[in-house]
Amino acid sequence: MYPEYLQASLKKVAEKRDYNTALQPERMSAEDKKVLLEQFHPDYRKDQFEELKVGQNKGESVNVELAQTLQGHARLSADDVDLEHPDYDTDILIIGGGGAGCAAAIEADKAGAKVLICTKLRLGDANTMMAEGGIQAATKPGDSPAQHFLDAYGGGHYAAKKDLLYKLVTEGPEAIQWLNDLGVEFDKDSEGNMVTIHGGGTSRKRMHAAKDYTGAEIMRTLRDEVECRQIPVINYNAALEIIQDEYGRAAGAVTLNTNTKELIVIRAKAVIIATGGAGRLHYQKFPTSNHYGATADGLVLAYHCGAKLLYPDTLQYHPTGAAYPAQILGALVTEKVRGLGAKMVNVEGEVFVHPLETRDVAAAAVIRECNFNKKGIEIAGGGQGVWLDTPMIEKIHGEGTIMSKIPGMFRMFDKYGIDMRKEPIIIYPTLHYQNGGIDIDDDCEVIGVPNLFAAGEVVGGIHGRNRLMGNSLLDVIVFGRDVGIAAAERAKRTATPKNLNLDHIAAFEKELEDAGVETTALAPKLFPNYRQARNYLDTPFTDNSQVSIKAVK
Ligand code: FUM
Repeated sequence: MYPEYLQASLKKVAEKRDYNTALQPERMSAEDKKVLLEQFHPDYRKDQFEELKVGQNKGESVNVELAQTLQGHARLSADDVDLEHPDYDTDILIIGGGGAGCAAAIEADKAGAKVLICTKLRLGDANTMMAEGGIQAATKPGDSPAQHFLDAYGGGHYAAKKDLLYKLVTEGPEAIQWLNDLGVEFDKDSEGNMVTIHGGGTSRKRMHAAKDYTGAEIMRTLRDEVECRQIPVINYNAALEIIQDEYGRAAGAVTLNTNTKELIVIRAKAVIIATGGAGRLHYQKFPTSNHYGATADGLVLAYHCGAKLLYPDTLQYHPTGAAYPAQILGALVTEKVRGLGAKMVNVEGEVFVHPLETRDVAAAAVIRECNFNKKGIEIAGGGQGVWLDTPMIEKIHGEGTIMSKIPGMFRMFDKYGIDMRKEPIIIYPTLHYQNGGIDIDDDCEVIGVPNLFAAGEVVGGIHGRNRLMGNSLLDVIVFGRDVGIAAAERAKRTATPKNLNLDHIAAFEKELEDAGVETTALAPKLFPNYRQARNYLDTPFTDNSQVSIKAVK
């Protein structure tokens, strides 16, 4: 039930619902998309970016919040720990207990390696757990990895590293089979065939799902498997720095027990960074759909020891984050809702964009509608958004569809008295995904840092400058598995590392000093700063004086 001040707009939406449900909105031309993105997508808001003065990406501009983190001071110095007497010794250290970390652990364990997972929160507390809509893979007749490649390559603005994307799409069907065999309860028809649907930017129905909690179902299964295999896990241990050996190879990490504040030294023959994304840095003050731990830690770990980041300037703002009520601000409203036919409409009840444009385009269209066209819904107490007209779903597919296909969404709004079967919901873009990240080679090894590997959201280049729905869960599984195998192979050929050191910390600090970077920030950030978050209701982009607006369609 919405407050009185929204009733007039709700009436208009209801009156136009039949017309809008039948409407086939036009797709935008490539030129119109370009103009829209340049003017309204947050990645183009140069006043929110800062040039890096140190590290492999020196000279490149990234969001201010990321620049602060990448150029923060290390949290320890070499004198704080005794590297000669490690607390743990293992073949492979996996930093991060989400989807990629667990998939890596399972495959490395199968390959006979001694594995240790260390995670800042608890096993499974990760963005994988938060994923809703599905996982893509070309498993159906009429589809192919080649078609999947074309969709993802175009959707990523032709910027993906082709060899990585090739791996993603060609190993996709096997990844689905692997998950199915492990016990993931995918949606299936009465004959046991997997049900697949469209996502934004897909030319074929290749989204496999477990209703609207696909990530939670995958994470549950992976976590069970890690536990069944008795792979050791240290919870509440945040990695602070990678340790290197006499040859500059990764040889473990120093971690912080976040409960006791003890520093722990872990020696390993190979290290995998699988720390996930950065939504909790709240770039440009956006709310986020991300897990609490997503603070770009892995980017910092790799950057401190000389890795390069690919496309660190590009973030994904999911067009449909919950914008009302405030208790769920930024929470993900899965793209599946639009896949099922719900369209976004403005305060007048008008459809203003095709519901399945790629995410960057759809998000920019919502921002334009609210902040330039001034046809958004002003929310009392702060913030704005547009309607996502969910009752259309049952008009198209019949009664009961919402409860059977997107029960999680129903519950999320029902808790606050909003019945999305009967009333639309209010959405605004939410910070969802880090498109860029650590630059890796075909074997998931970090370029420039031997024996350091990476997989999952912390990696850049697989998706180019924009990711399609469902390709993240896929990348977590495909590259998670691959990195486990590659690291196990490397560990077999590596002797116990000697002369462990943290020399890169002093080198990095010197670089900061030489570049004149003055900061009190410490990195990795580890936990979000929620005093700042009180400002989120001052929805970003309300002040257009900072953006140069040209005439746009
Ligand atoms: O909209 C969604 O369900 C999100 C999926 C994804 O980011 O892959």
